[in-house]
Amino acid sequence: MANKITWLYGKTVIVTGASSGMGKDIATRLIKEHSCTVIGVARSEAKMKAFNEELGEYAKQFTYKLFDVSILENWQDFAKWIEENNIHPDILINNAGILPKFDKFENYSIEDIRKAMDINFFSNVYSMKVMMPIILKSSDPGIVNVASSAAFASLAGTSVYSASKAALKGLTEAVREETRGRCYVGLVCPGFTKTDIFRNQGDDTASANKAFDLVSTPCAKMVDMIMHGIIHRKSRMAYGFDSKYMDIGGRMAPVGCSKISSTVMKKSKLPLFDDVFKVQ
Ligand SMILES: NC(=O)c1ccc[n+]([C@@H]2O[C@H](COP(=O)([O-])OP(=O)(O)OC[C@H]3O[C@@H](n4cnc5c(N)ncnc54)[C@H](OP(=O)(O)O)[C@@H]3O)[C@@H](O)[C@H]2O)c1
Repeated sequence: MANKITWLYGKTVIVTGASSGMGKDIATRLIKEHSCTVIGVARSEAKMKAFNEELGEYAKQFTYKLFDVSILENWQDFAKWIEENNIHPDILINNAGILPKFDKFENYSIEDIRKAMDINFFSNVYSMKVMMPIILKSSDPGIVNVASSAAFASLAGTSVYSASKAALKGLTEAVREETRGRCYVGLVCPGFTKTDIFRNQGDDTASANKAFDLVSTPCAKMVDMIMHGIIHRKSRMAYGFDSKYMDIGGRMAPVGCSKISSTVMKKSKLPLFDDVFKVQ
């Protein structure tokens, strides 16, 4: 399945959140189409084992490490393992993340907020702090951080998620300029994408699934766009129609963009957004 040779060819790539969704598809594409060696990171051994089996003859290009990316010590242990095993990673793709249940800010506990910031933001701080000195030794290094369209504009029900992804966007954009000429740094802001990330929303009704289907880009199509962006070393990747809307709307009419989207959510009357708009 080898594609035309790109800068990714034969690289060693760390992909977090490689056990499912976009991370798994990105890892597959790197392995099968760019002859990369991938070190996948996630917590679920069952999912990683299944992925390893799915890779079949390509499994020799895949290794995985199981750890929680939101803990600094785990990254330090991982870096030690990398060095002890004489591995020389070229590219770091920080993709692991969670989508907290849509809710209003008043209802989130401090623990909910810390958890989202730890997994969606601080995991990237730790991984870059610990891994950058190693990655920058590569002759052609790269760092790709997966944020979200939620970094462009906040909607009702996404306060914590948007804050975590906006923080990641800000961090990534500064690091991009600080390492310009030394390292490719890419920021990916996908819109709604059909993956398992919605499993914690507590609304598995046909109407909710239909709504997700309507607004979501299929995972394979999203990963096509992400791979195209990385191959072409794009700095900023706003993919999916909703991401483009949030990107442009968030700049041209920041209040109107949030207001219109939040009104559509409210008018949809989906049980999914009940907690967001219910006044106690
Ligand atoms: N799907 C969307 O609509 C959408 C839109 C915009 C942005 N994004 C972002 O895209 C990224 C990938 O999401 P996805 O849709 O592919 O979701 P997904 O299918 O739920 O995959 C998330 C991945 O992250 C891993 N993960 C979560 N918490 C972790 C932790 N504490 N430590 C280590 N690994 C962890 C999960 O593995 P384990 O469970 O095995 O740990 C899983 O492999 C996320 O950052 C998400 O915020 C998604």
